[in-house]
Formats: sequence, C-alpha cells, structure tokens
Amino acid sequence: MNPEFLRLSRLPLSAKLLVTLFLGLVGPGYLVGTANIMFQHQDADMEPGLTLDDLRRSFHGLEKTVTPEAEVTVRSLMLEQVSPEGEMREYLENGGEPAVRSLIGWLEGGAKEEGFAAGDPSPQAVIKAHCIECHHADGGDMEDLPFAAADEAEPEYTLVMEAAEPEFQTGEQGPQTLTLSPTSVSRLVHVTHAHILAIPVFTLLVGLLFLMTGFSEKIKLVLGPLPMLAVLLDIGSWWAARFIEPFIYVIAASGAIFGAAFALQILAILASMWLGIADPKAKASE
Ligand code: HEC
Repeated sequence: MNPEFLRLSRLPLSAKLLVTLFLGLVGPGYLVGTANIMFQHQDADMEPGLTLDDLRRSFHGLEKTVTPEAEVTVRSLMLEQVSPEGEMREYLENGGEPAVRSLIGWLEGGAKEEGFAAGDPSPQAVIKAHCIECHHADGGDMEDLPFAAADEAEPEYTLVMEAAEPEFQTGEQGPQTLTLSPTSVSRLVHVTHAHILAIPVFTLLVGLLFLMTGFSEKIKLVLGPLPMLAVLLDIGSWWAARFIEPFIYVIAASGAIFGAAFALQILAILASMWLGIADPKAKASE
C-alpha cells in the first residue's frame, strides 16, 4: 500500500529537514492563529473570556439582557472603529501589537484621563503616530473629528474623548435587552476569503505527509481527512450560523477537532520519520 520510496523514514536527510521545518512553522502557526481568534472574539458578548456567547454574537447575533445591578459598558465609537472589524483598525495595526494593546486596553478600561499619557506607548502617543495625520483640526482629511489641533501637535484628551468616551447603560429602568448584531457580511466575506486560500493548502500538505507514515490504513482513513473535514464544517458553519443558531456548536466543535487531529498528524509524521515508529520494516533494515 505504501510504496517503499514514499516511506518517511527512508527520506534523505535533506527532505526530512525540509519537512520538519515546515511542520515547525505550521504547527505553532496554527496555535498563534487560534490565540488571535480568541483575542478577537472574546469580548464580543461584552463579557471577558471566550464563551459560546462570543461565537453566538459574532456569527449569529445575540440578545443580551442587562439586569439593574449589572453595569454594562457599551463600546465607544473609537473602540468600534479600532476593534478588529472596524475601519480604522488597519491604521492602528501599523503600530504593531504594542500600539493595538495600548489603545484598545485604554479604551476598554473606560478611556480614563489618567491613563491617556501613561504607558509605553501611551494611548496619546499611539494616536499621535497613527491617527492625527488625518484626524487633526488644521486641514486634515477628518477635520470634523480632530484628535489634535494640527498635524504635528500632541493629541488632546478633550478632543479624543468626543469619540473615545464609553456610554454606560446602568439599566436603572429595570432589565433591558440589547440586540448585538453579528459580524457584517462584508467582513465575513473577507475572513472567509483569507482562510479559504490558506488553511486547506497546509492542511492538505500535512495530511499527505501523514498518509506517508506507516500507520494502519484504518487509522489513516479516520485521522487523515479529519482536519480537512473540520475546516469545511468550520467555515461552512460561519455562514450557516447566521440563519441557524445551533451551528455555533459546530463552529466550536470543529475548531477543537481540527486542533486535536492536526496535532496528532504532526506528531505521527515526526515520530514516523525520525524514529521509524509504526514503520517496522524501516527499523528492521537499519
Ligand atoms: C488615512 C486617514 C485616516 C487615519 C490615519 C485614521 N483615520 Fe479615522 N477616519 C478617517 C476617515 C476618512 C473617516 C471617515 C470614514 C467613514 O465615515 O467611512 C474616519 C473615521 C473615524 C472614526 C468614526 C467617525 C464616525 O463618525 O463614524 C473614528 C472613531 C476614527 N476614524 C478613529 C481613528 C483612529 C483611532 C485612528 C488611529 C488608529 C484613525 N481614525 C486613523 C481617516 C483616517
């Protein structure tokens, strides 16, 4: 079934190194991608931590009841704009992870005056570096929403607060229901497009390498196509969940299945290639 020349343990050292380096990239790459998704979605339901409600909000929309005791921070205009689905996100991302962390952290903390000039980089410095080029009062593209008097000037707290101030809903009038809408269709198209090009390609490569191991055909039949199936279910459910809510469970489950199956495949490839595991012929001849 497995032609001799395709045995992983028989590959020349050059090919083994190439494959190992490739796996060293896509394995951790997948972890980073997952961390990024958790970071992006965890506040979708306006509560910390990644829960099913975050997926529900992002992919289906969520009705949230605010009880009188609970104080809910409704996102400010600026937080909307610089969050991952916002239009100003790309400018903020020019500053890299420190800039994103600084400004988002400050906005999520309620955009307090004492934090405005604090930190490295401070929210003030981030806004100066990445926003006032357009958002300044002296002839900027966004003159009507200025954060500073002029292009080179320091951003001013009072100006920034026009957009940064969160609105608090205290629910004093008794429980209120907020309707949180899902990710926009245009954003979902964009995300689908980005994922559909990249993920199946490395899933296929890793899957093919896995099929070159010496594990039994039964194991291969189950574990081989599993990650690709999970990708298909995952991406398909992003769209299905817009209309049929229970698909958010499929999103959650397929993410977990992908991660587990993909990790198993990578370990199996490395073990088979370097240690000759499940490859008795290779072992015997050495
Ligand atoms: C290249 C120019 C440019 C840069 C840089 C820029 N913006 Fe904007 N900003 C705009 C334009 C143009 C609009 C109006 C977009 C629209 O209405 O569709 C806008 C709109 C906004 C709005 C929403 C205004 C509204 O009423 O909806 C906010 C908030 C905002 N920007 C914040 C920021 C922040 C924060 C940064 C820095 C991270 C930033 N912008 C960087 C050009 C820019």
